This record gives sequence, structure tokens and C-alpha cells, in this order.
Amino acid sequence: MCGIIGYIGAGEALPFLLKGLEKMEYRGYDSSGVAVVSENKIKVYKKCGRLKELENALKNEELLECSAGIGHTRWATHGKPSDINSHPHTSKSGKISVVHNGIIENYISLKNFLTQEGYKFISDTDTEVIAQLIDFYYNGDLLDSVQKAVSRLEGSYALGILCSDEPDKIIAVKKDSPLIIGTGENENYIASDVMALLLRTRKIYRLQENNIAVIKKDSITVYNPAKKVLNSENDFEFVNWDIESTNKGNYEHFMMKEIMEQPTVISKTVSSRIKNGEIYFDDFDIADEYLKNLSKIYIVACGSAANAGVVGKYIMEKLIKIPVEVELASEFRYKTPLIDESTLLIVISQSGETADSLAALREAKRLGAKVLSIVNVKGSSIANESDYVIYTSAGPEIAVATTKAYSCQLCILYLLSLFIANKLNRISSDKLYECINKISSISDKIEEVLSKKDEIMEIAKKYKDTEYAFFIGRNLDYAVCMEGSLKLKEVSYIHSEAYAAGELKHGPISLIENGTLVLALLTQDKLFDKMISNLREVKARGAKIFAITTDIHKDKISQIAESVFYIPDFSNEFSPSLSVIPFQIFSYYSALLRNCDIDKPRNLAKSVTVE
Ligand code: AGP
Repeated sequence: MCGIIGYIGAGEALPFLLKGLEKMEYRGYDSSGVAVVSENKIKVYKKCGRLKELENALKNEELLECSAGIGHTRWATHGKPSDINSHPHTSKSGKISVVHNGIIENYISLKNFLTQEGYKFISDTDTEVIAQLIDFYYNGDLLDSVQKAVSRLEGSYALGILCSDEPDKIIAVKKDSPLIIGTGENENYIASDVMALLLRTRKIYRLQENNIAVIKKDSITVYNPAKKVLNSENDFEFVNWDIESTNKGNYEHFMMKEIMEQPTVISKTVSSRIKNGEIYFDDFDIADEYLKNLSKIYIVACGSAANAGVVGKYIMEKLIKIPVEVELASEFRYKTPLIDESTLLIVISQSGETADSLAALREAKRLGAKVLSIVNVKGSSIANESDYVIYTSAGPEIAVATTKAYSCQLCILYLLSLFIANKLNRISSDKLYECINKISSISDKIEEVLSKKDEIMEIAKKYKDTEYAFFIGRNLDYAVCMEGSLKLKEVSYIHSEAYAAGELKHGPISLIENGTLVLALLTQDKLFDKMISNLREVKARGAKIFAITTDIHKDKISQIAESVFYIPDFSNEFSPSLSVIPFQIFSYYSALLRNCDIDKPRNLAKSVTVE
């Protein structure tokens, strides 16, 4: 998704802008650009392609005296990736330059209005409309013209705005898309992402919904929609991320680094919530009475977070004995969900900024549901708008394909299920104690799996040229197959589908032919023999089988599967935390062997902040 950066101060804008854009590359983009104010003129440099294209374009430019500037990495929504469609976009007068993350829903009508007012447009973007509209209202007071222009915008937008006539400030605006203000020594910054600011400051302020900030080198003034000045001083927070976590260290890719970090971050996520054999959620003071009246739980999310939700459904329904529905946020927000005050909506989101998940949250609250979010980024929009928040402790996740955050989400869902089941007296203390012990051992068990990652690499070599793959499993294994399939698609571009194994014979088995790769998950002991039957069906039609199971099934599985990877036999209920790891590693090596851009897969963004 698009990334915004801005600088105003006594120093040089350009080096900060370029470094900040580099730190946001992981968000996914197809072009980049900067605008700086130099001798009361705005100079814009923007290029399609990777950041190095922009850096090459700047090589012979002398811009060191510029102390105000904005920058942008663009993930194309309106208009193909091109130099012209790249941001920043500048107005007809050349006075106003804008960078934007989001979508302006009513840009066509605004474009028609401005065209009638004599404006000509050179790009296919919605963003150019913003620059021209501010220009239309500009009367020597940038804040006033921004307030007027913004009042006519519909949609989502985080904006960075520069004006050549007022080079002592940048203006930031936030609606639905995240925007952060950072403060330094005689300089201040804006960015879409904390990652871009950590090089210069850890003191940040998250611009709140519909607010506008006027940022100068030595002041930050925030206005609400009623143009009232807000006292933002108390709302600054200190980011304690270690810079190291935003670097690859000795790893070739962030994805492998984050796969290997899973034991550590899971241990952190779990241990902070288990004290003396009890589960504590200090950021979740839900009333016992409310839980007693709970009649339904919705889990709403996108992508991998939704896949984690499917695992959560199986666990919650088994332990809490309340109906749990998992809905894709993009679907949930446009249906008529059956919600009332006895419904709990759980939103799962690594970034806490996914537009569809945020919209679903707002819809559920409008219908009277309480919202609990499971989020990895403190202070993110979804966290801020939830009634309750449980943070995963995965740390910054840079690779577009999530691994450690997904695994931490699973552990929170396990603990939450036990917590609620215990509150409702639906679990015996022995079972509770047994489950807590199992969950506490997940981190070590994952270490065991990771210690054998080269075995998976060898298996990936066998199948690297496959054109498509089936992931099949039953019950919890089916839920994990969903995530395995998404991982493989995302990073290796191998087309794959996840199917409930029992469903194959109802249609999809027609696609099985000689050499078709079938990845099978067999961790649910009670369903093992059923799975063996399914494997016989696909093998009889020529499939090559890569099975993941526990070594208690070694005799049977080795007779039918071409490749087998064994995970520790530690728990049927919490096996997803282990069985997903081989899929993550298989996807990584498949992508590596196919020379894919593992950390920044084509067309993908780390946080999808537009619909
Ligand atoms: C997962 O590997 C993908 N990057 C994507 O499906 C992601 O899970 C989805 O966009 C949801 O993101 P969120 O967890 O930040 O809300």
C-alpha cells in the first residue's frame, strides 16, 4: 500500500525522505517520488519502478538546501504505474503538491467541477484532484484552503501537503488511512508508518480520524473538523521497537528471519499472559456478565488473519460451546450480519489498518456489537476503535507474507478461548491446566520443527516447477491448509487451492492428473484413516503427495506419500501452530528456487489500507 513521508526542519529534507521511502518499500509499491521546496518553488521528481529509479533521477540534482519536502511510494489504484501517475501531484499553479494514501470515491465529480473551472489534468489518478482542489481554494492561507478542499472529499485519505508560498510548513490530513507525526530536534516529520521515522525519532503522535495538522520545524498544531485546536502534547507516545527488528540481520530475506523469530515472539506473546497457571489479559477487561449473555461470536478479518480466524473457530466452538462464524471483512461489511448486543465481534489484523477490517468493525459497532481486536501494531486504527484490544507481541513484521504475526494470532485465539471457557465454567480445571501447559510448550516445539527446515528445502527442490498444488486436510488441518495455500500463492506465484479433503470427490478431484502436487496435512489422529483414504483416491489418479504428519503414523504414511515431513506429536488441538511452519518454509524455498521477490511479492502490499 502507498507510503507517505514528509520533512520540515532546519536540516536537509531529501536524504530523510529517501531513507524513509526505503524503510516503507516493504509496504508494496510500483513507483515513487518526492517534492521539495527550493527558493519558493516546488521541485518534483517521480519515477515508475523501484526506488533506485528515483535515486538515479536525483543523482545530478543539487537539492541540499531544501528543508521542506514530501515523498511517496505508490501502490497503483487509479491509473497504471507510470511516471505521470506517480505521486506527488502538483496543482496547475505549481504552488500545491500532494501525496496521498487512500482512495477518493468522488474524484470524478470533483474532476468535472474543476475542469469546468479551467483546470486541466495530466494524470489518471484520483489524487491529482486533491492538489487542484486545494489550489482552487488557495487564497494565501494554506490551512483554510485545505480545510475547504477536504470538506468536499469522500473516501479514505492520508495526505501530506506542501505549498511553495508557505515553505515553513507541511500539512497532514487523516481519514481512514494511517498518518503518524514524528518530532525531532528543530525538525518534524510525517509518515504512514513508524518504520520510516525510527531512524530519527521514537517520539510520535498518531493523527486521529478527520483531524488536520499544521507541522512546522518547531511546532505541531492539530485541528479537529470544527477547526478547534487540539492539545496534542499529552498524546505523544514513545516507540520502543529496536531498530534491529527492522533490519534483515544475517538473513537473506525478512520472511525467513520472521519465520525463525516465531519461537521467541510466541514465547513473548504467551508467557506475558500466563501467571500461576491462570490466563490474564490485562488489556481486556470484559465483564463476566457480558460473557454470560454471549450468544454468538463473529471473527472478521482478511487474508491470513481470516485463516487464523478459521483455526480460532474450531478451537472456540469446541471449548466455549458458542457458535462462531468466520467472515471475510470485505464480505461482512456489505451483507446484513445478524448482530445484536449479545454478539462479540473479533477483528484480527496484523497491521491494524486494513480498510475492509476497519469498515467491518465500524459496521458491527453500528449494529450494537462489542468489538475485540487482536492486533500487532499498537495505536493502530483498528485498535483505537475497538472496545477491547489484545496485542500480539510479534514485533514489526516486514515481509509482505505474514508468518510470525499469524502464529501469534493463533496463540492469542487459543488463550482467549480458554479464558472465556473458564469464565463460563465450560472447562474443567484439569483440562485448563493441560491446555495451558501445551500452549506454553508451543515455542519449544516450533524450535524442533525449525531445526529440520533443510529437509523441507530438499522437498521444495523436488516440486519447484509444479504449476499448481492442492492443499488438503480435515478439521483444523483444513484450516491450516488455507494458510499454507495462501503462503505458497503469495510468494512463489504457484497457483494453489486449499480443500477440505472430504470435499475433493465432490468436484475438484477432476483436476487431479498425473503429477499433480497434493500437500496433505494429517495431524488429527481421529481423522487419520479418513485422510489416508483421500490420499489413496488422489494417488490412484497420479497425484504426487507431500504429507505432513506426526511420526506415530510413519508406517502408514510412508507407503503412500512421495515426501513426508514429521512434526512433534504434542497436541491435536494446538497442532496448527506446528503444522503451519513447514508450509511457511516450503513456500519460502519454493519462491527462492523460482527467483521470486520474496519479501515484496508482485502486486501485493503489506497493509491493504484501501478497499
Ligand atoms: C498475508 O500473508 C497477506 N499479506 C495478507 O493476506 C494479510 O494477511 C491481509 O491483508 C490482512 O492484513 P492484516 O492482518 O494487516 O489486517
